Amino acid sequence: LASARRIIITACGTAMHAGFMAKYFIEKYARIPVNVEIASEMRYADMIIDENDAVIVISQSGETADTLAALRLSKKRGAKVLSIVNVAGSTMARESDNVILTKAGREIAVATTKAYSAQLVALYALGIFVSEKRGTITADKEKSLITELKKLPVKIGETLEKVNESVKSVAREIFNGQDVFYIGRLSDYATACEGSLKLKEISYINSQVYAAGELKHGTISLINQGTSVVAVASQRNVFSKTLSNIAEVEARGAKVICVTDEKMSENISEEYEKIVVADTIEEFKSSLLVIPLQLLSYYTAKLKGCDIDKPKNLAKSVTVE
Ligand code: AGP
Repeated sequence: LASARRIIITACGTAMHAGFMAKYFIEKYARIPVNVEIASEMRYADMIIDENDAVIVISQSGETADTLAALRLSKKRGAKVLSIVNVAGSTMARESDNVILTKAGREIAVATTKAYSAQLVALYALGIFVSEKRGTITADKEKSLITELKKLPVKIGETLEKVNESVKSVAREIFNGQDVFYIGRLSDYATACEGSLKLKEISYINSQVYAAGELKHGTISLINQGTSVVAVASQRNVFSKTLSNIAEVEARGAKVICVTDEKMSENISEEYEKIVVADTIEEFKSSLLVIPLQLLSYYTAKLKGCDIDKPKNLAKSVTVE
């Protein structure tokens, strides 16, 4: 990976959202270009891939048909393949040049949660080690990133306690509604993608996700009086930009729910409903921000009486096209 000209990450669904996050992290620290490709598209796209590329496939099951096809295509074209999978001995684990096992434990519910959290951590750790090999981070930075990474389990526990009541109250507001929009920028956008997928997957509420800056290129026409908008706003460098997007939808009647952390919450007006997670460094915030979004889907689905572990029309592992 450290000597690759480019890294291609390919996956489906939630695993692909973990890839979105990894792109920001790896490019920032390892300074290698990272492309994230939808596996079901990549397998038919006749992409330019060769031995200078390193391909990372991400999959909970290690059996998703489209991701497996993208893996085989990459190998055929000479790229080295690393898989990040949760199931040891799965087809992807067996066919890759190298494997990182996420060891999240057996995941039974169709909607993935803990495997996603484990994928994020595996990708952060990978990014740190590749950066160290390439000499693009200092030993001090490496140490501080690893120290913060190790604190995440405790902070996830704190976050679960902190957000529980506010998430329940938002669930009560949205469970009877028709649509929920999710917005965010950069890694907040990646987190919003996952929040939106979780909501539609288990509560069957129509949900759309947008990079916040895209709103005025079309989507804002869908915002009406009372439309629910979940805004993930945690990234310092784009914070003021996201705040203006929040103000824009609010001015058109949206009911905005801001998902943020303690530090950034101080800069968000009290007039907005907020869900506030524990603090960590910018790079790892997604691991905490996704918790209330997963919980929101859970409580919303519960209020609607949905079968949370086995949503309709979905299979845990998509082994056919
Ligand atoms: C996630 O909640 C979904 N069930 C789905 O998007 C899933 O992540 C996707 O099908 C990929 O599965 P995999 O990780 O087993 O490859």
